[in-house]
Amino acid sequence: VVTGTPIGELDTPALLVDLAGFERNLARLADFSRRTGVAVRPHAKSHKSPLVARKQLDLGAIGITCSKLGEAEVLVDGGITEGILVSSEVVGPRKGERLIALAQRAGVTVVVDDPENAAELSAAAERAGLRLDVLVEVNVGQERCGVLPGAPAADLAEHVGRLPGLRFRGLQGYVGHLQGVRDLAERTARCNAAMTQLVDTRRLIESRGLPVNIVSTAGTGTHEIAAEFHPGITEVQPGSYVWMDASYARVEGTPFESALSVFVSVVSRQRPGQAIVDAGWKALSTDAGNPSVKGRPDLTYAPAGDEHGRITGDDLPPLGGKLEMLPSHCDTTVNLYDRFHCVRDGRLEEVWPVAARGATQ
Ligand SMILES: Cc1ncc(COP(=O)(O)O)c(C=O)c1O
Repeated sequence: VVTGTPIGELDTPALLVDLAGFERNLARLADFSRRTGVAVRPHAKSHKSPLVARKQLDLGAIGITCSKLGEAEVLVDGGITEGILVSSEVVGPRKGERLIALAQRAGVTVVVDDPENAAELSAAAERAGLRLDVLVEVNVGQERCGVLPGAPAADLAEHVGRLPGLRFRGLQGYVGHLQGVRDLAERTARCNAAMTQLVDTRRLIESRGLPVNIVSTAGTGTHEIAAEFHPGITEVQPGSYVWMDASYARVEGTPFESALSVFVSVVSRQRPGQAIVDAGWKALSTDAGNPSVKGRPDLTYAPAGDEHGRITGDDLPPLGGKLEMLPSHCDTTVNLYDRFHCVRDGRLEEVWPVAARGATQ
């Protein structure tokens, strides 16, 4: 595809980035960081792109968070070598070796929630002659990974601190269960409780004589709330804010705009009241519900198979007509595409690879 191509001529389905909205979203998080003093380490799981990561770093991010080791490897290969935080536990000898190999060529920190895993990583780091930076992951209510707050987290921190191949740097306490709580008052109250647990755990560890340099938490829906706990909380790791999605659009008080869509075409108009488009489960994720139709609240979308979607409404586009869909979940939709088509003023400006697409190992 040629730069300058009018959007209407792009082949479909295509993942579109509204560059102006995207740039404003990046600027908003950078402003937040300046205003509050809270550092940002944006999560790459939403964009999977070293190019986007570079823009985030250029705007003052202190590093980039990655959900998987494979994602981190792609970012490092793409030149992002500072401040990489792997926010999921890396377990097993083979993965441990890969992590250490990565730490030999980039600044890498990893989370742990288990003493044996920590010992295994320490041994691998020692064999390679380095010390690996580690955050103890604390379960502050998500009930996913993480050791319990308070004494269990402090005990693990001390264990990490004693291991010769590791350097205890602090805590991660992510609140994934709260990002999508729509009501701002409820989200604030629940997030405050989680942040209190996290900051209390920090204090307990410090009272045992161990310095805590990093307390990393929060995402798009909770970063403003977590910032009230600065300096107990040192950094936040929002991901979805770069694009937003139809789910986040319903969450009260998220100061970002929709900047990602999937461009689709009508491929069949054989039944009254419905238009079939060329985007089904393989083009639009539905784990967070159905996508919505951008600018057309009168139309609804439902998947109609792997390759098809059903648009219903009264005023439907003709055969060959185009629509823009707003993904219900940006992360899982981005992972379905090889490239972003970046658009400004109705024309294609750039194409960026989704470099870490599928890098889930
Ligand atoms: C550990 C961790 N941090 C940060 C995020 C980013 O969250 P969001 O995309 O809601 O900003 C996620 C998302 O799942 C996550 O798992």
